[in-house]
Amino acid sequence: MVVAGTRPELIKLAPVLRGLDEAGVDYVFVWSGQHYDYLLSQVFFEEFGLDGADVDLGVGSGSHAQQAGQIMAGLEGLIGDYKPSLVVAEGDTNTVLAAALSAVKCHVPFAHVEAGLRSWNMLMPEEVNRRVADAVASLHFAPTEWAALNLLFEGVSSRSVHVTGNTIVDAVGRFMPRVEEQAGKVLEKHGLERGGYLLVTLHRAENTDNPERLRGVVEALMELAKRFRVVFPLHPRTRKMLDGLGLLGQLEDAVMLMEPLGYFEFLALLANCLVALTDSGGVQEEAFTLKVPTVTLRYNTERPETTMHGVNVLAGAEAHKIVECTVRQAERAGEIRRLSFENPLGDGEAGRRITQIIRKAVESGLAIVEPDLRETPMVVYRLLEADAISSPEVFDLLASFDHDGKSHLPSGTRGKLLARLKICW
Ligand code: UD1
Ligand code: UDP
Repeated sequence: MVVAGTRPELIKLAPVLRGLDEAGVDYVFVWSGQHYDYLLSQVFFEEFGLDGADVDLGVGSGSHAQQAGQIMAGLEGLIGDYKPSLVVAEGDTNTVLAAALSAVKCHVPFAHVEAGLRSWNMLMPEEVNRRVADAVASLHFAPTEWAALNLLFEGVSSRSVHVTGNTIVDAVGRFMPRVEEQAGKVLEKHGLERGGYLLVTLHRAENTDNPERLRGVVEALMELAKRFRVVFPLHPRTRKMLDGLGLLGQLEDAVMLMEPLGYFEFLALLANCLVALTDSGGVQEEAFTLKVPTVTLRYNTERPETTMHGVNVLAGAEAHKIVECTVRQAERAGEIRRLSFENPLGDGEAGRRITQIIRKAVESGLAIVEPDLRETPMVVYRLLEADAISSPEVFDLLASFDHDGKSHLPSGTRGKLLARLKICW
């Protein structure tokens, strides 16, 4: 059972759905309905050639508890009806939280795509969601090695962690040729020139629900609009909050405000902008993949890889800092575009890799079972002499793993290794 409910989840799960189709894996696709506007949901089904979800729970907007609770109640029924071998979800939304909890409460293993990202800020709803999802998951698809290390240092068994790459790289790779073909027309439609405008997205609660931060971003955009054309497709949440603070009118006069865009049109504008300003996770990843200079409107990022080579810089939400960073990134645009590096976010094969691991896990009977600890009733962490242990199968080695994410004894290692083992005195 594959569960999604918001714009980025559909974009990032589409490569997995495609992989499952290609591999002939039988699945049911459930849409929670957390996003329901045509431009936040249906448009992507159409663009990706997907038939639509098998089931739409239609939960809509609400408080975190209402949203997660309704999705859990709906999924509990569906899991009972469909009896899936595995529940799969991607990212860190309330839909993912609900999918993870529903699965494990129904004793069905949960697989988390994009596991291991951390902002270390528990005031961020996404941080709570992703930590819970990772805590209960049986399979962790970490997009990068850094994400995998976050999981290992939280004590997640290396046997469940697979470094797969981020499926957003698959999406960008698959659609960019088509996007490039259409880019000229898209730019013409909006009266824009290649490299001649800034592209902005903003929707994160920490910005939209904090009037001081939202005012800071608006002040920066007003200032930047004196020097650059500014294009801003507005998430409905942001439109509502700007309107509530009486900021929409002044922004509309200075900036090209738009409805949310379909994926192909958005990618065309992203690939050709001078600098992207964003608080989105997916947009940071796409911009990095396309070598688009980025200014992140946050004080931290759970995608630290994107700051490599200065492609992405963190500006926070203070007007002067945003302006300063944007001007600097604009000056560096040529240099950033010419960078040559292997993308640490992935190689475009994440969807297939994830599918294969899912298939193997399901075929080999992955299940949540009561551990038989009668012989060895306790699980403890121990520091062991490295040369005194021979087989990695009998314990979870927490700080050393091979490329398949398996516990791995480095040969000839001296000193102590941190291991988790089952013991009996
Ligand atoms: C959600 C996710 C966020 C993700 C984002 C992707 C949570 C806690 N947040 O944020 O992690 O980055 O999706 O875009 O899960 N609204 C509409 N139409 C819609 C959907 C929402 O108008 O189709 C408006 C409603 O006023 C709603 C508000 O947007 O109250 C917020 O929607 P919600 O799904 O709660 O959170 P997002 O901000 O979209
Ligand atoms: N996106 C889009 N149209 C837009 C803005 C964004 O298709 O008008 C895409 C963008 O390319 C990225 C994804 O939406 O793949 C990011 O979603 P969002 O910023 O809503 O969520 P986040 O990634 O922060 O969770």
